[in-house]
Amino acid sequence: MTEKIFLAIESSCDETSVAILKNDQLVSNVIASQVASHERFGGVVPEVASRHHVEVITTCIEQALSEAEVTAKDLTAVAVTYGPGLVGALLVGLSAAKAFAWANHLPLIPVNHMAGHLMAAQSVEPLQYPLMALLVSGGHTELVYVAKEGDYKIIGETRDDAVGEAYDKVGRVMGLPYPAGRLIDELAHQGEDTYHFPRAMIKEDHLEFSFSGLKSAFINLHHNAQQKGEELILEDLCASFQEAVLDILLAKVKKALATYPVKSLVVAGGVAANQGLRERLAAELTETKVIIPPLRLCGDNAGMIAYAAQVEYEKGHFADLALNAKPSLTFDSL
Ligand code: KG4
Ligand code: ZN
Repeated sequence: MTEKIFLAIESSCDETSVAILKNDQLVSNVIASQVASHERFGGVVPEVASRHHVEVITTCIEQALSEAEVTAKDLTAVAVTYGPGLVGALLVGLSAAKAFAWANHLPLIPVNHMAGHLMAAQSVEPLQYPLMALLVSGGHTELVYVAKEGDYKIIGETRDDAVGEAYDKVGRVMGLPYPAGRLIDELAHQGEDTYHFPRAMIKEDHLEFSFSGLKSAFINLHHNAQQKGEELILEDLCASFQEAVLDILLAKVKKALATYPVKSLVVAGGVAANQGLRERLAAELTETKVIIPPLRLCGDNAGMIAYAAQVEYEKGHFADLALNAKPSLTFDSL
């Protein structure tokens, strides 16, 4: 077998990451997180993100190569996230990938960030098709049908907020640090669903999601309680919010699985780290094989980009140095 070694770069949001995938094994996955810099703003500041990426990208590349004990001449190709994401942030990774590929005479593989989240599941076991994926992150909430390797089709998505975005926004209202998803998940496990928030479109016969009504209901309740000087129970607030989110996600996943028979369900993206979601999937989808990437591959990282790059490499999907960032890239425009 000829060795296949990919170097992948991810810089679409607030993590600068470089990974090396060697013959299906991740041999390094360096992640430089900027979360601490954005925390005080309660969200990612695009200009700050770009500057941080510029500062650390070269060191991340060097570290990923040295941890993997490979040099540029061992590589098969260079892969990079070209969208969706913040344009300035994407451009840093893209410029670094292009320069590295050009200097070392390597092919350049453009990767969709969401395909990366999905293909992180390949680290658990070889994926079998057709499969369904629930992709849940800070920027996206979508159901993707994958008829065969590399053939991604969105069959349902959010009409407004992404689920991770809703977590972060209600977290901000409760005064929790950004990003709030993990803490809300922890607090939810100590409380009860006593506030009964709305579950939008849960009974409707389509695969679209909506979280803005839930977010508004939460903000209104919080605001009214503050005005009246009423005390809200933080753990119960979190449990009520999370129950509503999980009811919506589970209802739509079940509907999708009933409509599209598949071999397995992949659940990926930052929100796939949610323990409540994992428990509900295990309890309620007893007939379906559910594959969730390990926690370290759920948040943004270049390892997942390397797995998705392998698929694009097999498809012969390469780019030249004219490759540009596509902040609103969708699966249709792959
Ligand atoms: O995929 P990701 O790292 O970045 C994007 O591409 O958006 O996802 C980040 C999102 C944030 O909104 C964060 O609050 C959420 O994932 N998140 C969680 C949990 N851990 C991270 N949401 C719910 N429960 C968690 N345990
Ligand atoms: Zn992401």
